[in-house]
Amino acid sequence: MAKPIADITKPRGKLGVLLPGMGAVATTFIAGVEAVRRGIAQPFGSLTQMGTIRLGKRTEHHSPRMADFIPLADLEDIEFAGWDIYEDNCYEAALKAGVLAREHIDPIKDFLASIHPMSAVFSTKWVRKIDGPNKKTGANWYDLAEQLKADIERFKKEKKVDRMVMIWCASTEVYATRKPAHESIKAFEQGLKNNDPDIAPSMVYAYAAISSGIPFANGAPNLTVDIPALVELAREKQVPIAGKDFKTGQTLMKTIIAPGLKARLLGLNGWFSTNILGNRDGEVLDDPESFKTKEMSKLSVLDTILQPKLYPDLYGNFYHKVRINYYPPRGDNKEGWDNIDIFGWMGYPMQIKIDFLCRDSILAAPIVLDLALFMDFAKRANLGGIQEWLSFYFKSPQCAPDLYPEHDLFIQLMKLKNYLRYLMGEDLITHLGNEYYE
Ligand SMILES: NC(=O)c1ccc[n+]([C@@H]2O[C@H](COP(=O)([O-])OP(=O)(O)OC[C@H]3O[C@@H](n4cnc5c(N)ncnc54)[C@H](O)[C@@H]3O)[C@@H](O)[C@H]2O)c1
Repeated sequence: MAKPIADITKPRGKLGVLLPGMGAVATTFIAGVEAVRRGIAQPFGSLTQMGTIRLGKRTEHHSPRMADFIPLADLEDIEFAGWDIYEDNCYEAALKAGVLAREHIDPIKDFLASIHPMSAVFSTKWVRKIDGPNKKTGANWYDLAEQLKADIERFKKEKKVDRMVMIWCASTEVYATRKPAHESIKAFEQGLKNNDPDIAPSMVYAYAAISSGIPFANGAPNLTVDIPALVELAREKQVPIAGKDFKTGQTLMKTIIAPGLKARLLGLNGWFSTNILGNRDGEVLDDPESFKTKEMSKLSVLDTILQPKLYPDLYGNFYHKVRINYYPPRGDNKEGWDNIDIFGWMGYPMQIKIDFLCRDSILAAPIVLDLALFMDFAKRANLGGIQEWLSFYFKSPQCAPDLYPEHDLFIQLMKLKNYLRYLMGEDLITHLGNEYYE
């Protein structure tokens, strides 16, 4: 039996999953977990629930289920809580989100209707296209963070949870860059007390979580925990953090296809991506400043995968464009088109067209589940700070400041699995394979 690096045992007691933002993604996630628990659905798309991990040599044929290899919380032990500016309970919010059909929502109506969003920390300066009545008021950001911590404590007592994680599932905030208030814990805490205009609501949630010892993952492209102050706080408090922006839809496709083109040294002249979507996320992204946050997240992918500096003849001059069009009739059922202009042997041009009729929240829900379970696992394994091994789930993976992020989905998966093997004291799999021929 291999010896784990850390003392990681099967958790006892309940795991509370805290969700700022109880819209399409959050309610689809909650409804799915409950449907799985009742045996009426399967957790497709979730690595923790359906994935396996090979251990040892190929000749050993030993690939246990992920959940049997690492001690993760059981779905039965999860409790949910969250915040939203709208007062709808999760049943009403799920109906409005229009992702799941009534035939899947109604059998679990009692459960969904019992989850009511707590009042939110919100500012129309940071999310401009929507507003609602369920908001906190307070003297300053610091006071609001204290109110969030009180909500968390109340939930912990009421539901008797032992451990918690927080996953940001709220709207995309307007584009922001690092400012002096983000540079250190001291400056940040001062900024909270002074109502610094560079502090966003998502940072207030992240601060409340991290300072309470609760792991925080960011499902949107907002800056949020990607600032030195909160990275430092997470390291100091030994709290795992991860981000940014769930990797679903068009970017998921991009990080599947681009590594393949590069592997075969096929050149790229241009990649034009456009989407139509009509959910509330689409409405928020109709604001150019929120779109800019998303655009930056989506654009960064190709450069790091294709490495134009290493391959100037193949990738030194490609045109990359990303558009998101708010189109209400489609609701959550996004359609994403990609036109990819590539070239091969002797420069002959070819084209690839992708028409992905995807369901955004159906792709995002299993990511929320995996992140909740892995972040809880990371905390029990005493891992603090940025969890780069979870890059697999993000469009803009957060990593150390002097590193470039790894975007290639297949490298990300290999990294995730090797990291788990490493933590559990198993041999890493390098795919060298010499031993089979000696
Ligand atoms: N669906 C996907 O595939 C996907 C992929 C990547 C990222 N995301 C991001 O995940 C987030 C959620 O997506 P969605 O489709 O569920 O959007 P949504 O609009 O359905 O839900 C977001 C909810 O957050 C609430 N909200 C906004 N600001 C808040 C605040 N400060 N505090 C509490 N609640 C707040 C809104 O009222 C809304 O109900 C968005 O930022 C989106 O960009 C989604």
